[in-house]
Amino acid sequence: RFDTVNGDLTDTYIKVNRIMAFLIPALMMILNILIVAILWFGSVRIDAGNMDLGALIAFLQYAMQILFSLIAMAVMFIMIPRAQAAADRIEEVLEVKPEIKDPVYSIASSKERGYVAFDHVTFRYHGAEEPAVKDISFSAGPGETTAIIGGTGSGKTTLVNLIPRFYDVESGRVLVDGIDVHDIPQEKLRAKIGFVPQKSVLFTGTIADNLRYGKADATEDDVIYAAKIAQADEFVSSMKDGYNTMLSEGGLNLSGGQKQRLSIARALVRRPEIYVFDDSFSALDFKTDAKLRAALRNETQNATVILVAQRVGSIMDADRIIVLDGGTVAGIGTHKELLGSCEVYREIVSSQLSQEEMA
Ligand SMILES: Nc1ncnc2c1ncn2[C@@H]1O[C@H](COP(=O)(O)OP(=O)(O)O)[C@@H](O)[C@H]1O
Ligand SMILES: [Mg+2]
Repeated sequence: RFDTVNGDLTDTYIKVNRIMAFLIPALMMILNILIVAILWFGSVRIDAGNMDLGALIAFLQYAMQILFSLIAMAVMFIMIPRAQAAADRIEEVLEVKPEIKDPVYSIASSKERGYVAFDHVTFRYHGAEEPAVKDISFSAGPGETTAIIGGTGSGKTTLVNLIPRFYDVESGRVLVDGIDVHDIPQEKLRAKIGFVPQKSVLFTGTIADNLRYGKADATEDDVIYAAKIAQADEFVSSMKDGYNTMLSEGGLNLSGGQKQRLSIARALVRRPEIYVFDDSFSALDFKTDAKLRAALRNETQNATVILVAQRVGSIMDADRIIVLDGGTVAGIGTHKELLGSCEVYREIVSSQLSQEEMA
């Protein structure tokens, strides 16, 4: 599909550029012939004595100004349809109605806190043939850590994205605190969840601004406390302007691990009931990773933690490990249980152990 569109675009561009390639030299040719003609006829008249040099030069200048205006006008006529098309596209985007709508009647909030449950959830991306996740069921409560492991493309990110309702499920239900996420106003739902995405999103502004995003009224102490847990305090403090250091768009002036730590700190500042970490430790070295996890365990004792991980070593002590394979659950249980019962899990474990042994 992409190839045909791309081919189309290439053809159009080649055509346009061919026309331009003829048009521009042709225009230049006319322009230059005109200049030569003016000079030629002018010089003949000067020679004959009925015109002086100043008048010729003035005439030439005026002629050039008029000609350039004409060219500018021609360019305008090229630009207007383009601008029109661009404006249409922008309008299309602005007019998109969000697919995720708030419930008309929201169910009175429940007293439960920090419960996440999936009830036979199946989800398919728009236009995809195969569901990205199929028939997922599990539940997690406060004080528990649920780890999700599986190969690339097995649906880990998709699964965790369903918790804050970034997408609507195709069938089944996602429950947060016992209520279907359909029936919770988005603002309320997302306030419960501290979501650390796979790709950290930082914006232009100071580090403190970035950490306060999501809880604008956080005090300086809150921010520093969260940064300490996320093992970010050290490198932030060593910067010249500390927490007032300006970040460029996307945090280009930071390393991957530093971005991940800031993004974790941002979630911690909000102190949500539910933490979701999507592969948020992948760019950290072993030592930082271990320190961060120890601090995090302390901080999130009473919260619900759902984390996507790559390394078996870092999830062995989770209360529940969900093994995903091609969008389906290959097994749910503790490390020990899965070693005994789940072939896919054994494969992941043995491949990582042998890798570490080789290293
Ligand atoms: N935005 C999207 N649109 C369409 N398909 C997607 C999108 N994101 C992921 N997928 C597909 O869904 C499957 C699961 O992807 P993902 O959840 O990102 O896996 P993981 O995080 O385990 O690597 C993959 O086959 C991927 O190609
Ligand atoms: Mg992922």
